[in-house]
This record gives sequence, C-alpha cells and structure tokens, in this order.
Amino acid sequence: MMIPSFNIPISLFFLSFVFFLILSSTKVSSDSLLYVCPNTTTYNPNSTYQTNLKTLLSVLSSNSTTTTNGFSNFIAGLNPPDIAYGLFLCRGDVSTAACQACVSTATKVVQKRPNSKVATIWYEKCILRYSNRSIFCYADQTIALSLVNMQNVTEFNRFVEVLGSVMDDIVTRASSSSSDSR
Ligand SMILES: *[C@@H]1O[C@H](CO)[C@@H](O)[C@H](O)[C@H]1NC(C)=O
Ligand SMILES: *[C@@H]1O[C@H](CO)[C@@H](O)[C@H](O)[C@H]1NC(C)=O
Ligand SMILES: *[C@@H]1O[C@H](CO)[C@@H](O)[C@H](O)[C@H]1NC(C)=O
Ligand SMILES: *[C@@H]1O[C@H](CO)[C@@H](O)[C@H](O)[C@H]1NC(C)=O
Ligand SMILES: *[C@@H]1O[C@H](CO)[C@@H](O)[C@H](O)[C@H]1NC(C)=O
Repeated sequence: MMIPSFNIPISLFFLSFVFFLILSSTKVSSDSLLYVCPNTTTYNPNSTYQTNLKTLLSVLSSNSTTTTNGFSNFIAGLNPPDIAYGLFLCRGDVSTAACQACVSTATKVVQKRPNSKVATIWYEKCILRYSNRSIFCYADQTIALSLVNMQNVTEFNRFVEVLGSVMDDIVTRASSSSSDSR
C-alpha cells in the first residue's frame, strides 16, 4: 500500500503534529494514522530477510513491555543485504502498557501487508519503522503527516501565546536533552 508522501516543510509538519497532540480528543483508534510501505522494494516469501524481519518485529514487540523511555531499536541478521533494522518510539506521555499495546498492534499490522522491505507506520501513540538499511541516525523527511483539528480556538490571542511558548520549550528541550529524556 502506497500513500503519497507530502513534501511540506518539517516545521509545518511538526507544528501540525503538536496541534494534533494538544487538541485531539482522547479517542483511541486501532487504525493507523499513516502507513507507508512502498511496493517497489519487496522481499521474497521465505527469504532470509523475511526471517530477520520477523525476529526484529518480535524483539521490538517484546522490548516494548520493558522500555522505560518509550524507545527501542534492534538489528536482526548478520549479513547484508538481509539485515533488518527497526525501531519504535512511543509518545512521551503514554504509559508503558499503552506503548506496548500500540507497538504490538503495529508489528502485527506491518506483517499483514505485502512483503515490503521498508515500512513506517504511525499511530496516535507510537511510530514503528523498519528498513533493510540502517535508519537509526537518519531522519526520514520524505514522510510527513498533517492532521487538522476542526475545532475552533475560543481565545485566539491566548492560544497563540501558549502555542509559542510550548514550541519554544520543545525546541530548547529537543536540541539540548539527551535522546532518552522524556
Ligand atoms: C505498486 O503499486 C502501484 C499503485 O498501487 C501499482 O500501480 C503497481 O503496479 C504496484 N507494483 C507492483 C510491483 O506491485
Ligand atoms: C514458504 O514456506 C512454507 C512453509 O515451509 C511453504 O508452505 C510455502 O509454500 C513457502 N512459500 C514459498 C513462496 O516458497
Ligand atoms: C531488546 O531486546 C533484545 C533481545 O532480547 C536485547 O538484546 C536488547 O537489549 C533489548 N533492547 C532494549 C532497549 O531493551
Ligand atoms: C534494500 O533493498 C532494495 C530493494 O531490493 C535494494 O535496492 C537496496 O540495495 C537494499 N539496501 C541495502 C542496504 O541492502
Ligand atoms: C468555527 O467557526 C466558524 C465561523 O465562526 C463556524 O462556521 C464553524 O461552524 C465553527 N466550527 C466549530 C466546529 O464550532
């Protein structure tokens, strides 16, 4: 399944995502917000890559039960080109149980779709990514998700003020903290 990616500026994307986090209702959905799995890079059934991918997803799912910071990565396989790299990241404010449930769903859903060597799936509470190349130090700026909340702001000036300070705070913390701080 191929969902077109939108080349909007990363700042806008981030802003939209934060808007979403702040304003969204607490409705929990098992549907993914976005799922990108290009059918241009596929593995063969019963291939070594598939075996490694299964191991990878199983380890990530299992690690999500013990993660304290909502993040884990893993590499399955020893020999290129069959190595599978993967990670998950849960939203900073979700419990370990909710993180685990989200990652578990994500690992199951990605295995149901057709044989893609590369995939990214987003839920409200977690993101799961895997690839046949290392993805750990590379931000993927080709995928962006913008979610518009249709509710009206009641106090616009106050909203802009709060939004500004929240964004400033995020920028400061994101650029100065170690990666595992929440
Ligand atoms: C990949 O998906 C596109 C769009 O759905 C389709 O046109 C194309 O035939 C698919 N390619 C393969 C190799 O399945
Ligand atoms: C993959 O392996 C299973 C179990 O060994 C077998 O039933 C199936 O036919 C194989 N599929 C392919 C495409 O080789
Ligand atoms: C995830 O699980 C694997 C395999 O059990 C282990 O080697 C790795 O250290 C775990 N990672 C984290 C972050 O818990
Ligand atoms: C990943 O898979 C694609 C498609 O099969 C291949 O072109 C590419 O070289 C692979 N990348 C690595 C690092 O093995
Ligand atoms: C938001 O405000 C506009 C203009 O006043 C109005 O038409 C619209 O119905 C409002 N939307 C909601 C969700 O209240």
